[in-house]
Amino acid sequence: MTATLITNIGELTTNVEGDGDPTGLRRDAAVLVEGSRIAWVGSAAEAETHLLRRDSAPQTTSRDGFDVSPSSAGGGGHVQVVDAGGRAVIPGFVDSHTHLVFGGDRADEFEARMTGTPYAAGGIRRTVAATRAASDEQLRTRLAGFVAELHDQGTTTFEVKTGYGLSVHDEARLARLAAEVTPEVTFLGAHVVPADYADRRDEYVDLVVGEMLRACAPHSRWIDVFCERGAFTADESRRILAAGVAHGLLPRVHGNQLGPGDGVRLAVAAGAASVDHCTYLDDADVAALAGSDTVATLLPGVEFSTREPYPDARRLIDAGVTVALASDCNPGSSFTSSMPLMIALAVREMGMTPAEAVWAATAGGARALRRDDVGVIEPGRRADLVLLDAPTRVHLAYRPGVPLIDRVFKDGVEVA
Ligand code: NIG
Ligand code: FE
Repeated sequence: MTATLITNIGELTTNVEGDGDPTGLRRDAAVLVEGSRIAWVGSAAEAETHLLRRDSAPQTTSRDGFDVSPSSAGGGGHVQVVDAGGRAVIPGFVDSHTHLVFGGDRADEFEARMTGTPYAAGGIRRTVAATRAASDEQLRTRLAGFVAELHDQGTTTFEVKTGYGLSVHDEARLARLAAEVTPEVTFLGAHVVPADYADRRDEYVDLVVGEMLRACAPHSRWIDVFCERGAFTADESRRILAAGVAHGLLPRVHGNQLGPGDGVRLAVAAGAASVDHCTYLDDADVAALAGSDTVATLLPGVEFSTREPYPDARRLIDAGVTVALASDCNPGSSFTSSMPLMIALAVREMGMTPAEAVWAATAGGARALRRDDVGVIEPGRRADLVLLDAPTRVHLAYRPGVPLIDRVFKDGVEVA
């Protein structure tokens, strides 16, 4: 088994809660990776003593009580040493909301928005036409490019939604392609009613909960619905989520993006893992979220690109709601996959501290995907780590737009 010791870490964000700090910050730290998992976390000094300068007899327990595996690293096997040079290490970003399988783009819409044309969900239909026209190979190549882009920016876990096919054949195709690159595939046949069903919306909902769901469920883990004026009503959304759950999928919801609505309360009532956008909330929405296990996933790339008001993260956090940050990368409302940008916007525009924003983009995303193997740096978790070209995670918000992602490890393998 290969082993890598990342040592001389000036600031390590573990997200292992301790001493009232949910981000479990450690100074002068080291992390030992064995195979795809984290084997040990401790101080750089301990790493020197126990892992690098040891003779044949392996140490099995560190001062902090973490087990040092006596396999490759402990038994004198080869350990690759990465010297972080006093810089910061954080968990790989968990982007719990993307729409990365699509054809074409909508740069013209963005350009028009910047001179005053408002965002409208109807633009989705243009991407549906371009996606239907694209071959599997074209979509696969594009997706591979996005995966490389995500890795380069420190994202090691990501969700991908369908939703630009909106026919049985095309939705199944998108779900299948998405499943080639991530286990976190979301069936979003209920994105909008496609143009060919414009006068037959009931028929379209029947199709989504019937044949389309049956074709997509085998490739998917999640069911999602865009519960919004111009997309699906609360009754339709409830029916769609229930059908997905009956097929073994887990619910999540797009809600309260373009105006107040039923999305948040519907998501909470359905026991959804997450309700995403949460831009327009009333007090009842916040209270419902606070009393639930549903994460509020905020997508500030959307407000950046649509000129809508940013969601009030401070209000949610102060009410006790779990907040995640995600990119919503899609060609209409947010064509960016940059989690560092989401952190910078959350801090600058949404009242989050840098520590809260980094937590929300890592452990928060993991909660939104109900994953306990990512988003946290501790023994047993996946070795998904980002070495920043910065002394502290604060720089992610403090130096917006600067490429601070130096090295990225996913499952113990360097991917960027
Ligand atoms: O999450 N809200 C719905 N869907 C996407 C936008 C998709 C598009 O405009 O193409 C979103 O913002
Ligand atoms: Fe979305």
